[in-house]
Amino acid sequence: MKIAARQVRLVSGLVLFVYVALHLTNHALMNLSLAAAEAYASAMFAIVALPPVRLLLYGSLAAHFGLSLWAVYRRRDLATLSRGEVVQLVAGLLVVPILAGHVVPVRFGVLLFGTLPTHTSVTVATTQFDTTGGLLLAVGLLLVWLHGCAGVHYWLRLKPFYARWQPFLLAAAAALGALALVGYLAGSREAAALFADPEWRAGFAARHRFPGEEGAATLERIQTGVFAFWALAIAAVFAARRVRAWHAHRGGRAIVAYPGDATVAVARGTTLLEASRQGRIAHASVCGGRGRCSTCRVRVERGAENLSLPADDELAVLARVAAPPGVRLACQAHAIGDVAIVPLLPASIGAAALAQRREHESAGAEKTIAVMFADLRGFTALSESKLPFDVVFLLNRYFAEMGAAIEAAGGRIDKFVGDGIVALFGVESGPAQGTREALAGARAMIERLAALNAALAHDLDAPLRIGIGIHAGPAIVGEMGYSQARQFTAIGDTVNTASRLEALTKKFAADLLVSSDAVIASGLDFAAFPEETTDIRGRQGALAVRVVKDATKLV
Ligand code: FES
Repeated sequence: MKIAARQVRLVSGLVLFVYVALHLTNHALMNLSLAAAEAYASAMFAIVALPPVRLLLYGSLAAHFGLSLWAVYRRRDLATLSRGEVVQLVAGLLVVPILAGHVVPVRFGVLLFGTLPTHTSVTVATTQFDTTGGLLLAVGLLLVWLHGCAGVHYWLRLKPFYARWQPFLLAAAAALGALALVGYLAGSREAAALFADPEWRAGFAARHRFPGEEGAATLERIQTGVFAFWALAIAAVFAARRVRAWHAHRGGRAIVAYPGDATVAVARGTTLLEASRQGRIAHASVCGGRGRCSTCRVRVERGAENLSLPADDELAVLARVAAPPGVRLACQAHAIGDVAIVPLLPASIGAAALAQRREHESAGAEKTIAVMFADLRGFTALSESKLPFDVVFLLNRYFAEMGAAIEAAGGRIDKFVGDGIVALFGVESGPAQGTREALAGARAMIERLAALNAALAHDLDAPLRIGIGIHAGPAIVGEMGYSQARQFTAIGDTVNTASRLEALTKKFAADLLVSSDAVIASGLDFAAFPEETTDIRGRQGALAVRVVKDATKLV
């Protein structure tokens, strides 16, 4: 099983987040007493000392730091980071130097000199001997907390439940941070009182086996080494970014074209989303370009071959939203040549709207919508006379054209079934607009098919032909399926009727059959098209339909 870097970063971040939350709780307990915090710390560190837990913790720290640097390297244009992302990034990078001042003496003290730190001894040491270091530690912990909370926020904000829980989670996070800080101050006062007692102070260093001057110097050298490693790692990332930018500059430019004649010239290798940002073209990107939300998706009109190939992660996200062929995630597709794209979602869509939309969709509802079925005629015979490679090529070209027509009209692909296509219209906008969109989509499909036939004339014995059925009525819509195979779809009699209408197009030798319900819902004048009545298998009573022999005649 391939584990994506993003998942490792998330899981390692969550491990560290839990650890920091436990640590802050420890500080907060100092509001009660040092003894209460000591008891809690003993239990907590006994668990952390278990080899598997320690391995998990250190492994998470290394993986998270490494992958965060990798993310900085991969993000081509840091100027496009949101304010929240900048705070998260800076807080994350500062964590290492700030916490090294605490972690190195404690951990390496134990490893190299056999020191016996306790919560109380560390509190006394940091508040009585090294007050600046102690304050830095308290602030450092809060910075880690801020970084972690921002990460959790970016992770959860696409989840439907998050909008409801966000205020409570935010309040809990702020309360824990504040209690920890106040607890640290309370603990430092109690530590000062302890330290003022000459008897207690007398055996303090010996009790905890603190290293002498030489040992302290060794620990300081290790600390300096950690700082140097940290600074070098960051410098290396920024140097690598410079080299890449220089290389990309030498590699030439790529032109990204948008609807309405807008174009942006970018260095080859730039993602389509970064191209939009550089060109100040509004482009939805709810997850900030992490390849999670799919809101940046675009239809590639020209130059698909000039884009980097989609990775598994991108394919998984596209499959989740049932994206038709020709659709890419702008934040994942790199332009290595000229390309023309159409962003598919409104640039204004936000996390809350997206989450709401997902919640709404996944919950399921009965809605009156328009359903379209389209099928290639005689494709079975055609496929028997062609090589499998040619059949796949042909079908993918066909699906790309039909999918583009449907999406451009405002519909959403429900599924591809063999050589058939099921599309839903009006899920959000209602049946009147949905039916009009479905009719516009049908017309565009026939037009695109004619163009495709012309382009493939030398490969085809006879032009491709399709039949389309459109019906409007109530259907159950929602996310259905299991695991990766979950998708937004519709079920019910309306769907079945649309399917039967498509099958009947052959009998009427028509491009399109539109049910009377769809005609009424559209509010359009169908007087130019003859009306027929037909029986629909599985449905009581005859259904009136309009027979559209040539769908390009639809207005
Ligand atoms: S911005 Fe979220 S997937 Fe591209």
